[in-house]
Amino acid sequence: MRDFVAANPGFSLSLGILLMALLTALVVAVHDVFYQRSHAVQHNFPVIGHLRYLLEGIGPELRQYWVATDKEELPFNRSERSWVYASAKGQNNNFGFGTSEQIYGTGYPILKHAAFPFPDGTATVLRGDPSLLPCLKVIGASHGRRLPWRPMSVVNVSAMSFGSLGKNAVTAINRGCTLASAYHNTGEGGFSPHHDHGAEVVWQLGTGYFGARGPDSEFSMDVVARKVAQHPAIRAIEIKLSQGAKPGKGGILPGAKVTEEIAAIRGVAVGKTVHSPNFHSQFSDVDGLIDFVEAIAERTGLPVGIKSAVGELAFWETLARRMSERGQGPDYIQIDGGEGGTGAAPLAFSDHVSLPLKIGFARVYQVFQHAGVSRDVVWIGSGKLGFPDRAAVAFAMGCDMIAIAREAMLSVGCIQAQKCHTGHCPVGVATHHRWLQAGLDVDDKSTRVARYIRQLRGELLTLAHAAGYEHPAQFTSTDVEFSTGVNRFQTLADIMGYRADDLGFTTLADYDGTPEPAADSAAVPQTSSTALHPSS
Ligand SMILES: Cc1cc2nc3c(=O)[nH]c(=O)nc-3n(C[C@H](O)[C@H](O)[C@H](O)COP(=O)(O)O)c2cc1C
Repeated sequence: MRDFVAANPGFSLSLGILLMALLTALVVAVHDVFYQRSHAVQHNFPVIGHLRYLLEGIGPELRQYWVATDKEELPFNRSERSWVYASAKGQNNNFGFGTSEQIYGTGYPILKHAAFPFPDGTATVLRGDPSLLPCLKVIGASHGRRLPWRPMSVVNVSAMSFGSLGKNAVTAINRGCTLASAYHNTGEGGFSPHHDHGAEVVWQLGTGYFGARGPDSEFSMDVVARKVAQHPAIRAIEIKLSQGAKPGKGGILPGAKVTEEIAAIRGVAVGKTVHSPNFHSQFSDVDGLIDFVEAIAERTGLPVGIKSAVGELAFWETLARRMSERGQGPDYIQIDGGEGGTGAAPLAFSDHVSLPLKIGFARVYQVFQHAGVSRDVVWIGSGKLGFPDRAAVAFAMGCDMIAIAREAMLSVGCIQAQKCHTGHCPVGVATHHRWLQAGLDVDDKSTRVARYIRQLRGELLTLAHAAGYEHPAQFTSTDVEFSTGVNRFQTLADIMGYRADDLGFTTLADYDGTPEPAADSAAVPQTSSTALHPSS
């Protein structure tokens, strides 16, 4: 035998491998048929039945890379992802040969250009950045806040916590926002050191009040005041009522994920499972919400906004009415569409709870118009708006700004693996895994985030110029038409039944920075919109 092996080494090795493989197959077959009871496929087709699970496991990758067409996948198809990637990398993001969309298809939007566009060459350039587009309203001015704030970018990064995203991703996004003069929303996981790399920050308070809890684990106004005083980057506070992907659903952070760092940031105990309830402990009706907003604004001086998805309308009718009667309430409202993203949610919630953005936003905005308080609020839209055409439609509907989450993730390297809920994000974005995160280069990716935001603003601006405007918030609901059937197009105004408020835009140069609040502003809450806009 030894002589045979010495004389035929190649043949002997192959034979050995073959025998090992046969033996392994035999063991697996015996296990499949006689020992395992949970998989019928494996029992009935021993050994080869395993292929089913292998193919199922790599199915998403196979479909994404080989099978799906450019316009097929959701939430973002390949064309959309490619546009974000190319924009983020500073590559050519144009498409050749004309549209590949079904432009007669029902629901297809068309932006109407002007015969005489706004000449690109005469556009005002603020702070050396030709894409810089400030918000036309000042957040908190209408309610006389001590520290009103005009965000210098109408495109900002929506709430995503350090927790659902890893530290490298959060840091890269924050630094990218700094470069692009955009603001960064902390998400409900609290303000972390990774949110403190120069960008203006909106600190979100969800039902867990993370980072705002006292020693008794309850909400503490003293803690909020202290944190705001320590961190000048925080320019506004957001009370999260709900998000489009899982409204009315609380959350659980398993004890295993509550590391020392996360525990310190959130103000919770290390290693202990943390529950965020599906309701706020600090208020349970509209007046309670307004009282809470006013108490935070009074204590911190900051503007306070709310974020919500849209379900039943009675809440919004009462909120608008009470805001009008009291002259108080949220300084901004972010409406999140049901198409919005999340780190993890039950499918029924993601797919079926809360209205899509265009429907939900239109309903709420009209309620506020009828109550006469729509101008007192800064309107933010979110839900797959990180593309110039969609952002333009949002502005035409009355949004003053848009907030983007998953598109910002794409710009930081997300490949839409849709594994955020597993902790095994392969590109190190939505994970705390050290090895996976090590692949995310913060310097490179922060530049990409900034490029993407600038590119999005720049194209939005180009669209505005094509329609004859200097700022995209000048888009009106008659500038947009939707296909409503065979050879039928109707304006957004006809379909939605309203026109967004005319903000009386003057010239871009008038909106550079936050104007000084009036000396007596805190004493006189305003119900009119006069303080929101320099020219009104
Ligand atoms: C990974 C991830 C985490 C999120 N975390 C929060 C959160 O903490 N609070 C919140 O209000 N929304 C959260 N969202 C929702 C986003 O802020 C945003 O409203 C929604 O995804 C719509 O924007 P998009 O379509 O541009 O992603 C999260 C979304 C994602 C994808």
